[in-house]
Amino acid sequence: MRKNMVAGNWKMNTTLSEAQALISEIIHMVQDETTGSPAVEVVVCPPFPFLLPVGKLMSEGGTVHLGAQNCHQKESGAFTGEVSAAMLQSVGCEYVILGHSERRQYFREDDELLSQKLKAALAAGLKPIFCVGETLETREQGDTFKHLEKQLQDGLFHLSNEEFDQVTVAYEPIWAIGTGKTATSEQAQEVHAFIREQIARAYDAKAALATSILYGGSCNAQNARELFGQPDVDGGLIGGAALKSRDFTDIIKSF
Ligand code: G3H
Repeated sequence: MRKNMVAGNWKMNTTLSEAQALISEIIHMVQDETTGSPAVEVVVCPPFPFLLPVGKLMSEGGTVHLGAQNCHQKESGAFTGEVSAAMLQSVGCEYVILGHSERRQYFREDDELLSQKLKAALAAGLKPIFCVGETLETREQGDTFKHLEKQLQDGLFHLSNEEFDQVTVAYEPIWAIGTGKTATSEQAQEVHAFIREQIARAYDAKAALATSILYGGSCNAQNARELFGQPDVDGGLIGGAALKSRDFTDIIKSF
């Protein structure tokens, strides 16, 4: 059966000392406060330079898993400034976020490139958290499902069954990211059910039931319980609220 999951995407935030303080607080709060709570896979995705020190603190205590926010599509070579999936794996990453709307928008990452990145991540043994989501304009035009279907078909569904088993999907409506405007639980459930249906069509019902689908977009300690209470919402990909240990821990406790 699929996992409940809360993944914190720190984006381009924190200094080294802030990152170390934040992860220490999260580890302690999660340890102290979640005993006996429903099982949740907690993932934290710091900026690249802090993966190793943050991962070291994680390995010293706790059950938080390490993820990265991106990787390059090639194994190695003359790609100045880039980071490969194998490098991430070698510093202890288990997860990698791919297809985040900020990468699609600001770095022109398209479905073809994301397909290559997915393959590279899987080849290095990383578990991708693959993001999809529509703009406000697309939603208002009534094209949300068409748009998501295309992102899934072109970006994700080229994977084999075995590869797809490693994937977590995140639905992040772009109009809700960092805006304080959350999708209603009904809107989130409607889209999550649609994504699950698409997975069943592309693979099979078993794969659809086994895939965790996270919601992302102004998810916080106040709205997480209602969102996570929806039958097809298996947790959250958290931005702003993941930078506050109290809020992040409260979100983890919201199942
Ligand atoms: O990756 C996380 C999402 O972009 C959500 O960000 O919680 O700040 O809206 P947010």
